[in-house]
Amino acid sequence: MLDSPFPFEPFRIKMVEPIGLTTPTERERLLREAGYNPFLIPADKISIDLLTDSGTGAMSQAQWSAMMMGDESYAGARSYYHLRDSVQKVTGMPYFTPTHQGRAAENVFFAALGVGSGQFVPANQHFDTTRANVEVRGARAVDLVVAEGLDPHDKSPFKGNIDVARLEQFIEEVGAAHIPAVIITITNNSGGGQPVSLANIRQAKALLSRYGIPLVLDAARFAENSYFIKMREPEAAGMSVAEIARATFDLADAFLMSAKKDAIVNIGGLIGLRDETLFQKVSTELILREGFITYGGLAGRDLEALAVGLLEGLDEDYLTYRIGQTAYLAGRLQNAGLPIMEPPGGHAVFIDAKEMLPHIPQRQFPAQSFVAEVYRAGGIRVVEIGSVMFGSIDPVTGEEHFPALELVRLAIPRRVYTRSHMDYVADVCAEVYRRRKALRGLEIVYQAPALRHFTARFKPVNS
Ligand code: F0G
Repeated sequence: MLDSPFPFEPFRIKMVEPIGLTTPTERERLLREAGYNPFLIPADKISIDLLTDSGTGAMSQAQWSAMMMGDESYAGARSYYHLRDSVQKVTGMPYFTPTHQGRAAENVFFAALGVGSGQFVPANQHFDTTRANVEVRGARAVDLVVAEGLDPHDKSPFKGNIDVARLEQFIEEVGAAHIPAVIITITNNSGGGQPVSLANIRQAKALLSRYGIPLVLDAARFAENSYFIKMREPEAAGMSVAEIARATFDLADAFLMSAKKDAIVNIGGLIGLRDETLFQKVSTELILREGFITYGGLAGRDLEALAVGLLEGLDEDYLTYRIGQTAYLAGRLQNAGLPIMEPPGGHAVFIDAKEMLPHIPQRQFPAQSFVAEVYRAGGIRVVEIGSVMFGSIDPVTGEEHFPALELVRLAIPRRVYTRSHMDYVADVCAEVYRRRKALRGLEIVYQAPALRHFTARFKPVNS
């Protein structure tokens, strides 16, 4: 294949889903009705949906045909054994169980591990649901990502790495007995989809072994992380992506996986374990909450789709296209002048709204203002990851707290959109960027007491 800035889609399209087109007047009305929050706009009024890369991928002909062979037996279904073969091949973990999605895996795992008050769970960076599942049990989730991971313009290759020196310091401070596990999220979703190196995981593992603390991978984007390792880490240059993935899992004592990302299924999750006693505890929790250990809240056909998707996610031609597509969109946005988090991550491009809209103070939600405008201008749905999602009001003083980063995330569903879709997204974002000085802030007219970003309603300031 010719070298091109955008490796062409390594698939043909044989089933199509029409995209709803809307007029500017219609979008203006829909936006007002939705309180300037695209979460509240019906999906068929969205033309390009970059809300999330989770469960939104397109399954292959191999996955759809495997689904027809789904065995819906309650216990010991044939489909379970197919999934077991794939999990073993990709991860080598001796024990595993399916779950209905990633956060269910987190819930079951932390319950089985006995995570509770007085304990700490350090990570490079917890994803929101992982943090919530730790903290709801009374333990504290602590983020120890390397300093460069917090600088949007630092171009280091592995900005998702955990700071091993700080981790050691932290363990010494609170005591290993109070740390039931350490999590490494690959790639680091909360930090811009940045990868973690094999060397970093190895160093973390060596440290944790000295203290007898298990290392757990949040492996939702294990394939994209492995691809970045192949491209950027010299020791891995001669390895296949599948070999790198295996080497990564070999360093872990357990993994949790939302299969809705790199395993390219619309629903599903996994827990993988090395320890038999812990597996027995996980099984007890799983049966209570998700279902029997051979189906974990999924239908037999879902297990089949997952068995195939786990392997397809590691296909190198697919990953070249996938990572290339994200980089292509990032490059086009950058050429138009938009400030983005660098280097672009695997599953999404993040725009720095603080830098882009300095005239809108954080209390007027600059990133949300851009999100609303991109919908109004082009029917594109993207998501705010800033002061709406992470801002909070002190219940005692009433003072507002804002996060350090004010970002807009453009998450790309897998195998769904083509280059012309990406060009359209870039053109719309560039057009909004050109008239950024005219964008106004928003004020909240309704917010829920927790997780307000899903349902908050806004109005433009001074209206
Ligand atoms: N871990 C990571 C790193 C994630 O990105 C997600 C989900 C989960 C766990 C939870 O998995 O959704 O299957 O329950 N991330 C989605 C996103 C929602 O949009 O980034 P789940």
